[in-house]
This record gives sequence, C-alpha cells and structure tokens, in this order.
Amino acid sequence: MNSKKMPTLRIGDLEANIPIVQGGMGVGISLSGLASAVANEGGIGVIATAGIGQFEPDWDTNSREADKKALQKEIRKARAKTGGIIGVNVMVALSDFDDLVQCAVDEGANMLFLSAGLPIRLPNTLPLDRLGELATKFVPIVSSARATKIIFKSWEKRYTHVPDAVVVEGPLAGGHLGFKKEQIENPDYALEKILPEVVSVIRPYQEQFNKSIPVIAAGGIYTAADIHKFMQMGAQGVQMGTKFVATYECDASRVFKEVYLNCKKEDIIIIDSPVGLPGRAIRDEFLERVSSGAKESFKCPWKCLKSCDFKNVPYCIGRALTNAKKGNLEEGFAFAGANAYRVDTIISVKELIETLVKEYMAVATQRPMATGTPA
Ligand SMILES: Cc1cc2nc3c(=O)[nH]c(=O)nc-3n(C[C@H](O)[C@H](O)[C@H](O)COP(=O)(O)O)c2cc1C
Repeated sequence: MNSKKMPTLRIGDLEANIPIVQGGMGVGISLSGLASAVANEGGIGVIATAGIGQFEPDWDTNSREADKKALQKEIRKARAKTGGIIGVNVMVALSDFDDLVQCAVDEGANMLFLSAGLPIRLPNTLPLDRLGELATKFVPIVSSARATKIIFKSWEKRYTHVPDAVVVEGPLAGGHLGFKKEQIENPDYALEKILPEVVSVIRPYQEQFNKSIPVIAAGGIYTAADIHKFMQMGAQGVQMGTKFVATYECDASRVFKEVYLNCKKEDIIIIDSPVGLPGRAIRDEFLERVSSGAKESFKCPWKCLKSCDFKNVPYCIGRALTNAKKGNLEEGFAFAGANAYRVDTIISVKELIETLVKEYMAVATQRPMATGTPA
C-alpha cells in the first residue's frame, strides 16, 4: 500500500491536506504570519495566545483586554491571508484561559488546542450542552494516557461530549513539558511509549460517540522519517514546533532564529519554569544568571499565570520570553525542542512543507511496513 499522497488529517468536518500541525508557540513566536503560511500550504497553522497582549499599547494597564484584543486581531489577520485551517493555542495555566477560549470561538477559529494543564472545565460562557454544534474543534494536548482518561471522563460526564482530537506531546518537545524532571529521559515516558497508550484510551470513546478522534503526535518530530514512524504507530498527524521556528514566516526576530542556528546539543537544557513545570530551553547568560540565584527586578502588571508566585519568582517568564522573541537575549532566553541544534538554515514554510512531503513519499515507498509486508 504505497500511497502516492501523504495522508490527509480529518478532524470532524475539517480536512487538512497535509497531516502537519504547526505547534502553537507562545509569547509572539507563532502569530498570524506563521500560522497563515502553514495553513496556506495545507497544514494547520496555530496562533499561540500566551503573552499575546504584550505587544498591545495597554498591556501594562489593562492586560486582560489587551490579550483579547491582540488575539482577535491576529485571528482576523490570519483570516485575511488564508482560507486554510487556523487554530488557536490556549494554555490552561493562563489566568484568562476562559476569555481567550471564548474569543477564539467568537472569532471563528477552526480549532482550539488546550495545553499546559488539564482542560477539564470549559468556560461557562460556551453552550456547554451543545459543544458538538460549535464550528470550533477542541483538542487537548496531553502527555499521558492518565491525563487523557481524566479529560475524556470529565467531558463525557459534564458535557456528554468528548474532544475532537488529541495531541500527545512527548518529552522531546520545546517549551513547557507535561512531565516531571526525572521522567524526561526515562524511556517509559518516551513518545513511542505514550502514543499507543493514548490511542487505546481513546478507542472506546470513538465507538461510544460514533466519531473518529484522531491522535496527533508531537515532541521531537523533525524529519519525514519521524513523521512516517509515528503515523505507522497510530497517529493520524503530527505537531511540529522547533522546525517551524527556522522559517522566514515565523513571527520571531531574526536574532531569535539565529539562537537556534548557533546552538549546540549541549546548550539545550531543562529549566524549572515559574509556571510550575519543567521547560526545555537554550542555555544563555540570562539563564545562567537566574539559575545561580540572581533575581531580576520586574513589575508584574497582572498575574498572567494562575500558578505564578510573582512576588517570589526570580524573573518574569513572560517578559523574558518576549525579550527573546524581540532579539534581546541579554534579558531573556529561547524555548526550543530537543532537536533545535539540528537547525542549520532558515527556509520558507512552503519549502519546508514541500520537502517534508517529498521525503515522506520516499520513506513511505521504501518502507511499506504498516502491514508488516516484507519489502
Ligand atoms: C519557542 C516555543 C514556544 C512554545 N510555546 C508553546 C505554547 O505557548 N503552548 C503550547 O502548548 N506549546 C508550546 N510549545 C510547544 C510546541 O507547540 C510544540 O508542541 C513542541 O515544541 C513540539 O516539539 P518540537 O519542537 O520538537 O517539534 C512551544 C515550543 C517552542 C519551541
């Protein structure tokens, strides 16, 4: 069964021609520029909401409104550039999770990716007894079968509805990780291990709700061979972050992208984020400074993260990531996936996706291994 095309990714009535989701990357790394470019190539482009309002003039005085206004603006900008599929990523850990979810639904985002926490409760402003009638698809990002079970059970009970797809993110991802530090290198928590476990949790719900619930694999997926491997293991799509940073369309500054180009494997480290989760980032002087006990002075306009102990944390992560996005690495640092050291060039999203599709075909033709047929 050597397919001539990459499989499409169908989520309810949406169909992406290319089964690649561009991972939402917060604090300005994936906004309408990157998301629309990915959607125009047939993938799913995602606007991240974490810290999105920091680029609005009233961020310091009215942060909550600034976040909403910025998200509304970015969705509209993306819509003006593409007729493709646009998603919005909202971290459950954000204080204005409810507002941002509602705003994405109101603005007609095709999908909502819910990460960094268990999305067991949705905003009361949504029609919770008719979630299935909303055009927006709901997709939690999980890192274990256990989390998947908790979410599905609670949605079934509360909403008589279950998510439309699930992203399973393994420990090689960039940014915040849904693992304890000691689990990150433990093979029992590798994506190869957790993906089939999540697929098994979802299977009975597909039958019960009579709908297909695709599973999308994420974290360390870098080459077409990686994509092929996880699709063979039961994923219907993949989510990639790091690879999309190294594109012209990525909304970060050139300096931020150069940090990826210049980093070495040993520069990619795990940090303790003020969000209360470990995070993967690229080592720099700022991180050395704060990890050696220095406290950066900052003013917190509002507690943007539910769990942030803003009076005691050594630095403001929102500010540090914004500085990095803008190219000021003296006062910030870059989040990155475990493969960031492999980035050696910046290309267009079009070239990136075309190359992955071509290489995927080559791999699929050489290795029709899904059925175990000898080559
Ligand atoms: C710079 C950066 C910022 C990120 N920000 C977010 C975010 O705001 N929300 C989220 O759910 N995931 C975030 N992620 C995770 C990505 O969306 C993606 O799932 C992950 O990086 C996939 O692994 P990969 O980078 O190896 O492809 C971020 C990743 C990076 C590299």
